[in-house]
Amino acid sequence: MLSLDCYEKLRDGKYNAPQYKSFLVTIPLRRQGPWEVHKIEVELDLSNLRMMRDGRGCYPGTYTQLVHKTRGTVMSDTTAEADDAIPFVRQAKGRVLIHGLGLGAVLQAVLAKTEVAHVDVVEIDADIIALVGDHYNCERLTIHHGDALTYKWPRGTRWNIVWHDIWDNICTDNLPTMKRLRRMFARRCDVQMCWAEGWCRRSPCCNGTPCFSRSKHVIGEATGSKLKLRVVAGRK
Ligand SMILES: C[S@@+](CC[C@H](N)C(=O)[O-])C[C@H]1O[C@@H](n2cnc3c(N)ncnc32)[C@H](O)[C@@H]1O
Repeated sequence: MLSLDCYEKLRDGKYNAPQYKSFLVTIPLRRQGPWEVHKIEVELDLSNLRMMRDGRGCYPGTYTQLVHKTRGTVMSDTTAEADDAIPFVRQAKGRVLIHGLGLGAVLQAVLAKTEVAHVDVVEIDADIIALVGDHYNCERLTIHHGDALTYKWPRGTRWNIVWHDIWDNICTDNLPTMKRLRRMFARRCDVQMCWAEGWCRRSPCCNGTPCFSRSKHVIGEATGSKLKLRVVAGRK
């Protein structure tokens, strides 16, 4: 169990480690097509503490969320998301490929590293590129509009590391696409990783219904205890 001391440090934000800071995005709150960027506040309560102990927990704080009209939350810059991507960001260097722009949280963390020479991002949704793309105006970045599974790269294109992150939910249904992407890029990179692959393996699909929505907290949802999210700016 978490000690009282640990609880007090969490409550006061003292456990908010520096590695999370580079993921916190500053995209303006705006809409584009079915997408909207808004702010949420994660509170510290009993269910949140339980999730922090058992699952993809999240430090209390104010975060940015990318929400689709019908698909719901597709990305946020919460510490739960950062935890998923930290192993990738730590290893990122040289030429990097990211599949799925989303909020650009992982992109931002990678661009903050001087060892990263160039980042290619492949994003399927033109509205996402219009909503988020211009925020990351950087000479070391190229955003490509296309499908990660079919995008044609010039012969011989290689990356030091690739991050596949094109899924809305955590679910075993994602595993075949992960396998396909891994095969496609096996000879094109030194290292590749898929978002939440471990969680997907442990989350059997419920007859086509996604197991866990993005940025929610696996154990918390599995046990029926939902993290309290309060919308503090933008539309719910
Ligand atoms: C969860 S978000 C990515 C989060 C992002 N890595 C970040 O740090 O904010 C998933 C993104 O993948 C995109 N996407 C979905 N399927 C795709 C595909 N087949 N090819 C490229 N992008 C895709 C979605 O439009 C969405 O922007």
